[in-house]
Amino acid sequence: MTIGAKNTKTLADAYLEKRIGHSSLVLKNSFIKSAAFEGMNDDGIPNQKLIDHHVELAKGGVGLTTVSYGAVSAEARTFSDQMYINDHSLKSLEELADKVHLAGGKASMQLTHCGYFSKNKKIKKLLAPSKLFNAYGSLSGLMFSKPMTKSDMKKVALDFANSAQRLKSIGFDAVEIHMGHGYLLSQFLSPLTNKRKDAYGGSIENRSRFPLEVLKEVIAALGTKFTVLVKLNLSDGLKGGFSIEDCIYVSKMLEQMGCAAIVLSGGFTSKTPFYLMRGEIPLKGMIKNGTSIAEKITMALFGPMIVKKYSYSSNFFLAQAIKVRQQVKLDLVYLGGADSKLAMEEILKAGFNFIALARPLIHDPYFIKKLGEGEIEKSLCNHCNECIVEMDRGGVKCVLD
Ligand SMILES: Cc1cc2nc3c(=O)[nH]c(=O)nc-3n(C[C@H](O)[C@H](O)[C@H](O)COP(=O)(O)O)c2cc1C
Repeated sequence: MTIGAKNTKTLADAYLEKRIGHSSLVLKNSFIKSAAFEGMNDDGIPNQKLIDHHVELAKGGVGLTTVSYGAVSAEARTFSDQMYINDHSLKSLEELADKVHLAGGKASMQLTHCGYFSKNKKIKKLLAPSKLFNAYGSLSGLMFSKPMTKSDMKKVALDFANSAQRLKSIGFDAVEIHMGHGYLLSQFLSPLTNKRKDAYGGSIENRSRFPLEVLKEVIAALGTKFTVLVKLNLSDGLKGGFSIEDCIYVSKMLEQMGCAAIVLSGGFTSKTPFYLMRGEIPLKGMIKNGTSIAEKITMALFGPMIVKKYSYSSNFFLAQAIKVRQQVKLDLVYLGGADSKLAMEEILKAGFNFIALARPLIHDPYFIKKLGEGEIEKSLCNHCNECIVEMDRGGVKCVLD
């Protein structure tokens, strides 16, 4: 789109076919199911529920559905039974991609590394840009991270590239490199967690060096036409963190490097977990789900102090996202509170070609279809966020009727 051009799009425009950036992927519409951890795997192997979940979303009308948290190695997991990209998980993922295609959709995988944010006891040494205290994993004995060496970085970049290449080979249509929400690449981008004194720390040019090296390896492995999305924070949501100015700089670099589109989000899971979704904090369920007595007690005592509440509003990231829209030309995916016809028309008018959603689709996988057919105008999700608790109880789902 031309920056500054008057935009008169309506919701109907979002239901037209669209190519993502310069890539070869054409979606049947503008709607993307945002990665939202499903908790649907058995000992790290995606199960039938995960396949059915994404098939349902494709049937319900999304152009592209994103499978959440594909760890790029066993050590990249936040907990030990999370999925990672290996021979076993690829078998189920191949079936998932095939069935999503048959249902009329396309499939993407979010590729991630936890960095220091992990309670996976199988990890011998947590990797991060700097030595950091890991409150989340401290009760599992994972107290501090080790600053990554150049060879650690090379290995992790290759893990991203190999995982992406393997997903392409089994029929996935896109990958999303997770550079947001306080995971490893976001830890490099944020001044709060990147205290390095070498070429990978300090200025935003330096803090973004490793995430951009990862992207370079991934594009080299996949070719320039394959769809590589990047999920990036608008800001970390706390003082001294990654800022909107940083985001604009990194977005311009991603554009130069051949990323197909950026999914804009925000927040830092270990510090501001509810900044990225807003609404209620399901504290009771989070305490019940604690994996050890100590974790439960800690959450019960300190949860209200640790977990800050942010009130929900439709399009809660739009004002920040428009600042990026005004500075870069590449396709941007808007995410955060796109919960109604009205909200979506606002997003389209602001110049975003793609709209990603999580909770409206957890509440009703047919939301997009119903909205397009005029059956409804607004999602009935009430942002109670109990779906987060359900991730650890057999799989993400809405608890409302
Ligand atoms: C249950 C749940 C799990 C989530 N897991 C992830 C995740 O694994 N990766 C990610 O990037 N975002 C995750 N998110 C954040 C969503 O992708 C999205 O940014 C957020 O919910 C705001 O969008 P919405 O208002 O459309 O729900 C999760 C959100 C929810 C509700």
